[in-house]
Amino acid sequence: MHHFQYQDGTLRAEGVELSRIAAEVGTPVFVYSKATLARHYRVFDQALAGLDHHICYSVKANGSLAVLNLLARMGGGADVVSGGELHLALQAGIPAGKICFSGVGKTDWEMAQALQADILMFNVESLPELEVLNRVALDLGKKARFAVRVNPDVDPKTHPYISTGMKENKFGLEMDQALEAYKRAREMKGLEIVGVDCHIGSQLTQLSPFVEAVGRLKILMEELKSQGIRIKYLDLGGGLGITYKDEEPPLPEEYTSTLARELEGLDLTLIMEPGRVMVGNAGILLTRIIYLKDTPLKNFIIVDAAMNDLIRPGLYGAYHGILPVAESGPPVANFDVVGPICESTDWLAKDRPLPRLNPGDLLAVMSAGAYSYTMASNYNARVRPAEVMVSGDRYAVVRDRETYLNLTKGQRLPSFLEEGV
Ligand code: LLP
Repeated sequence: MHHFQYQDGTLRAEGVELSRIAAEVGTPVFVYSKATLARHYRVFDQALAGLDHHICYSVKANGSLAVLNLLARMGGGADVVSGGELHLALQAGIPAGKICFSGVGKTDWEMAQALQADILMFNVESLPELEVLNRVALDLGKKARFAVRVNPDVDPKTHPYISTGMKENKFGLEMDQALEAYKRAREMKGLEIVGVDCHIGSQLTQLSPFVEAVGRLKILMEELKSQGIRIKYLDLGGGLGITYKDEEPPLPEEYTSTLARELEGLDLTLIMEPGRVMVGNAGILLTRIIYLKDTPLKNFIIVDAAMNDLIRPGLYGAYHGILPVAESGPPVANFDVVGPICESTDWLAKDRPLPRLNPGDLLAVMSAGAYSYTMASNYNARVRPAEVMVSGDRYAVVRDRETYLNLTKGQRLPSFLEEGV
């Protein structure tokens, strides 16, 4: 469900014509719908209404302050994986008491930052990390609340690049090691055991891997209980998929009610870390056609957005819908929609049936709210696009387009270059 629809022959974000945003803000530009974001949060939250829960939105999906602030206002927390994400979440008004810190490579410095902020808990991913967390907490005279991230070794049946809960992945600790970590932690004065955590992958379109993972965590929790270790939080990570093309992921209600059934009778606060399902379909990338180029083999549409703005197609072969902003006739041919970057992976769509279009026409690259701006770069010295949030018939630029200043900021020429070459 999203609020990007045609009305009177033109594509709108809620009540705002995308052509107006393109004219006033320029292209490429990311456009987010506030109503869609709010709805996604509400649906998820309501589906969990019967359970004690925190929705710790995964900041890596979209870390724009406007998006984070909206979710904070709705009661959301955050899942962060770096000091930078923690900074963003706090800046946006997310209470520290609703922030979890995941990731396999937390540095002492990041741990200290999170302890000073007094976050809800750390999701610890290795034994050495556990030792360091204990030391950092003791140095600060604090106790670090933590969960062990368990690698339950289930196949999430998604793209291999975004699977995280299988034995060969770098994430979490397998069950026996996890148990060992809890036992060791009991002896460490800087730590407080509060939870069990897992995250098995992203863009999951089936429920069975989640159920399988919960089954394994339940076994671990039983074992912990028998050892007198009490668990307050069960963090099941994120991973629920969305429809990019024709996928039929379970509805948030189905997902949460299935998990709730699995957890019946357990006295726990459930933590979820949804990312994509909150923001994915709440954003688009608006781009303008620069050239049409026909070759004996292919028809190319060359647009002003590129893989530096949206790397998902180039990196994962991901599908994103392409809609002409001006409602157009039936498809006339298949086109590759590509950007100006000097790489053959710089494509946004391949062999896509599209109507007759012209240079200057606008296209909307759909489902670009998640893992899009956050994965953008300055490759080919392209400045990152602006971001706009729409609400009803109003819009606001929530992040300026970068300028050439961003390309040179912080760089300097060493004095030895002046000494000659
Ligand atoms: N929690 C943890 C610990 C995670 O690593 C992730 C995502 C999430 C939550 C949120 O997962 P979600 O609900 O969004 O599936 N760049 C890739 C996706 C990478 C996901 C990484 N971890 C993409 O564009 O598809």
